[in-house]
Amino acid sequence: MKEIALLNYSGGSSRILHVSRDELLPSEAALSVFDGNTAQLFADRDPERSLALPPGESAKNWASVERIINRALAVSMGRDGLIAGIGGGVVTDVTAFAASIYMRGCRLILVPTTLLSMVDAATGGKTGFDFGGVKNLVGSFYTAEEVRICPCMLETLPEREYLSGMAEVLKHAMLTPGPGAGGLLDIVASEKDAILARDAQTLERLIPAAVKVKVDIVSKDLREQGIRAFLNLGHTFGHALEAATNFSRWSHGEAVAWGILRSLDLGVRIGLTDKDWADETRHLIADYGFDIVTPQVAPGEIKAAMVDDKKKKDGRLRFVLMKGPGEPVLQEVPEVDLDAVLGIE
Ligand SMILES: NC(=O)c1ccc[n+]([C@@H]2O[C@H](COP(=O)([O-])OP(=O)(O)OC[C@H]3O[C@@H](n4cnc5c(N)ncnc54)[C@H](O)[C@@H]3O)[C@@H](O)[C@H]2O)c1
Repeated sequence: MKEIALLNYSGGSSRILHVSRDELLPSEAALSVFDGNTAQLFADRDPERSLALPPGESAKNWASVERIINRALAVSMGRDGLIAGIGGGVVTDVTAFAASIYMRGCRLILVPTTLLSMVDAATGGKTGFDFGGVKNLVGSFYTAEEVRICPCMLETLPEREYLSGMAEVLKHAMLTPGPGAGGLLDIVASEKDAILARDAQTLERLIPAAVKVKVDIVSKDLREQGIRAFLNLGHTFGHALEAATNFSRWSHGEAVAWGILRSLDLGVRIGLTDKDWADETRHLIADYGFDIVTPQVAPGEIKAAMVDDKKKKDGRLRFVLMKGPGEPVLQEVPEVDLDAVLGIE
């Protein structure tokens, strides 16, 4: 096991580890939570102490939390017992939530198996499930003692899921200084072919660099009272696109990439974003195959979803915009500029 990063937060710390395939599952007795797909990848799992949820977002619900808690009870797990969540962001979010409430909080290890969960969902302590048609309505902050990452898990990941994670990697890259700083931005800009081919050695550098961007931000602001909001770059637009298309037309990554492009448009339009850098970044995102020309939904519906979402939060139309590489700002924007970027006459 090799340490990728240590997430330090008030109240504790979480170790992010690069492990080999056979170090992924906990060696001690634990309740291991998979989904139907990730369970198939671990023939060596203990059937007595494992549970497979149905794959996909529809399992991110209270019924799954209840199943995990019931099984923990059935195997007489105490408060010092360990729950492991092995899967994509759905499994890691819902398992971490169950661990956060079982006996007021038991031990937790996360084993992310999608690119998105490796670089994003499994790190940073946000847990939860969807409720009443609202994504992540119920949740808690509860940080895993370890996050075990093996890029080898990505070999079986479907292409669209892999690319969905790449959108978050690109987002993290934009939050780093560069180009030329030898960091994540340089890796994504110069090693696209190897990344898209999932070259093992390239992934062993890409994933830790992407994880570190998140860890550095979250270590300073676990509960999103300030800079953690920068990680939402592209998400206000992207989430509205997903909501307006019933979370079925576009993958999360496709929607986020579209959202990042709209954030760049908005920043350039209000004179905040460096235009040359915005153009370079647009090309980089398109090079990775993200290029939604028509979102296949009326711009007014995207705006309505965005306003609805904002009303549920603080009611203000604020966006994460970029001045240049590594320079995010959170800013309110005039509605007329938002309309122009969305293509509303
Ligand atoms: N907690 C956070 O900070 C945070 C951050 C970002 C996203 N999320 C959440 O993450 C979720 C999305 O996560 P996701 O994109 O990983 O989706 P997911 O968990 O639904 O996984 C995608 C699909 O890939 C399959 N899969 C997983 N690993 C595989 C592997 N190695 N080989 C083959 N198939 C595999 C899964 O069974 C599933 O069908 C959303 O619910 C989102 O809200 C949470």
